[in-house]
Amino acid sequence: MTNLRFGLVPKKADEPRSGILDAMRVSSRLPQHFQPNALAAELEALREAGTPWLDLTVSNPTRCGFDYPAEAILGALGKADILHYAPDARGNVAARQAIAAWHGHGLKAQDVVLTASTSEAYSWLFKLLCDPGDELLVPSPSYPLFEWLAKLEGLTAITIPAYFADRWHLDLEALEAACGPRTRAIVVVNPNNPTGHFLSRGEWAGLMALCARQGLTLIVDEVFADYALEPAPDRLPTALEDTDPPCPVLVLSGLSKVVALPQIKLGWIIARGSMAEDLLEPLLFIADQFLSVSASAQAAAPEILHQAPELQGAIGARLKANLQTLDRHVKDYPHLSRLPVEGGWSVLLRRPALDGDEACAVRLLRQTNVLVQPGHYFDLPSDAYLVLSLLTPEATFREGIIRILPAI
Ligand SMILES: Cc1ncc(COP(=O)(O)O)c(C=O)c1O
Repeated sequence: MTNLRFGLVPKKADEPRSGILDAMRVSSRLPQHFQPNALAAELEALREAGTPWLDLTVSNPTRCGFDYPAEAILGALGKADILHYAPDARGNVAARQAIAAWHGHGLKAQDVVLTASTSEAYSWLFKLLCDPGDELLVPSPSYPLFEWLAKLEGLTAITIPAYFADRWHLDLEALEAACGPRTRAIVVVNPNNPTGHFLSRGEWAGLMALCARQGLTLIVDEVFADYALEPAPDRLPTALEDTDPPCPVLVLSGLSKVVALPQIKLGWIIARGSMAEDLLEPLLFIADQFLSVSASAQAAAPEILHQAPELQGAIGARLKANLQTLDRHVKDYPHLSRLPVEGGWSVLLRRPALDGDEACAVRLLRQTNVLVQPGHYFDLPSDAYLVLSLLTPEATFREGIIRILPAI
């Protein structure tokens, strides 16, 4: 996903800038320091020593042993029509038609704008909706990249803790209380990463009403929407169910999760409803400055989307098998439990917080040569959670679980 967790972790913003960064005169929107965190440093030491280790944090699906339909993908990427440059700020119409048809819910090609990734979609939407100094509200725990995508646009992402009671719940009152004169949008991930929380229909109605009252836009990241594992009956499968919401709704997705091909670099923004439609013209102005989606990614999109059911089937089977493995083994450790996984590619393992979660992850890496992620990298409350990737190849996951559970 991002190197922020294991590579370069910024220190707190109020710490002094280093002499080197000052001398380079780089923007104050950047991290003030670049320093590997304790877990990254431990992993580096392991690598240097040539010690083999098991990775239960894998997020790159192309390294997880899935059987990709190589011929179909390569054929789709190598179409002759990519030899002609036909710039279009919205993106190629055939690609947008295929995306609209794939989502269904009455979506049309003109509702879709192509981007090179979901991350790029965020940066365009933040430029579209906000002025420097404005604020976004983001329920936490969540995808850690938001903080930096916002900062790089001169914005502040204010995190509003969600809470777990049998399942995850948005704190709608806290979200409303956090709205101020500079708040422009709320960003939700459905289902969330790494909690797997699908919005309930009640939460969705509450969010839309809040945004309508406060004049905010609702950005809904649905990159994991196709991966429901243990969904609650009242979940909102997709924000696209609402054809004309009472606030502007912008839905994000992309090939990175839909077909597990992040390297193709194709994401999209969907404008849902008449209020979001009004945002399209200024959004296309931004898109026109970049025209960043490659011809081959656009030309390949229809054919690649045909592969989605098969790839999603294989990934879904992996996620379920790993969850079953975890359940089989964790029941022997009554002080440990796993949270329900409504959707997505991760599972949260709850443990007694006898030491910090990063200290625990470092200790596990040292003692068992297994890499897991501390929950606080995702803003999980307390030190009581470790995050495991359910994408991990099954034999590695099983072996990793067998090694770490007695050591937690
Ligand atoms: C919630 C969420 N949104 C977006 C992304 C990034 O997607 P893309 O590769 O399209 O930028 C990720 C990547 O893991 C993610 O977890």
